[in-house]
Amino acid sequence: MTAKLNVNIDHVATIREARKTIEPSIVTAAVMCEQAGANGITVHLRGDRRHIQDRDIELLRDVVTTYLNVEMAATDEMIAIAEETRPDAVSLVPEKPNEITTEGGLDVVTNFAAVQEAAGKLKSADIFVSIFIDPSLEQITAAHAAGAQQVELCTAEYAELTLSSRAAHGEGARKAAAEVARIAAAATHAIDLGLIVAAGHGLTYRNVRALAAIPEISEFNIGHSIISRAVFVGLSQSVREMIDAIRGV
Ligand code: PXP
Repeated sequence: MTAKLNVNIDHVATIREARKTIEPSIVTAAVMCEQAGANGITVHLRGDRRHIQDRDIELLRDVVTTYLNVEMAATDEMIAIAEETRPDAVSLVPEKPNEITTEGGLDVVTNFAAVQEAAGKLKSADIFVSIFIDPSLEQITAAHAAGAQQVELCTAEYAELTLSSRAAHGEGARKAAAEVARIAAAATHAIDLGLIVAAGHGLTYRNVRALAAIPEISEFNIGHSIISRAVFVGLSQSVREMIDAIRGV
């Protein structure tokens, strides 16, 4: 079965927040993504509110008819917002104050008690719990023990390895293939534990294809590449093209 695509629309809000104004509309973006065939909408409510705002979550909760996945840190503030707004899913992610974007997966082994408590509260509110982790067997086992229903495997390292044309041959290609194998092994371990497997971070029209061939991965969360391409071809087309890339068209 082809993996689902949730479009991360954070960077529509990044453009809006560059002027602290009302456009481009996050609601219009979400509806356009859904109409173009996306299976869901993902947003990251960061502690510093640099792009998505609390009101965006409320508006999206009202208009998204497919699936609303909100990424957040496992803090009391964020869990309270989730309990109040009730997205379909919450993805627990790590957060550092001055990072440009999420840097790697959540260290569930080290932060086990806090993650377990957050997962418990979310599940009590009938919210599906995903945890964003590095493709490590140890982290997957910990995420499962902490109460995750899904793990989202961090593909940042794979993305880094596939950014340049050097990934197409020689040592670059070998390193990228080894990272695909690591992600595939992690996905198999997660499935064996009964978890659903998602993947994301830094995925593009080109590098998503190798991961889309891993049958254990049933969902991708992709943002920057789709919104970047939308600047040139429009959002509907950029979403459709990513769906085609995942389908291997
Ligand atoms: N998944 C998670 C957990 C993320 O934190 C992000 C970035 O917000 C993404 C997926 C999407 O990453 P990108 O914008 O690089 O496609």
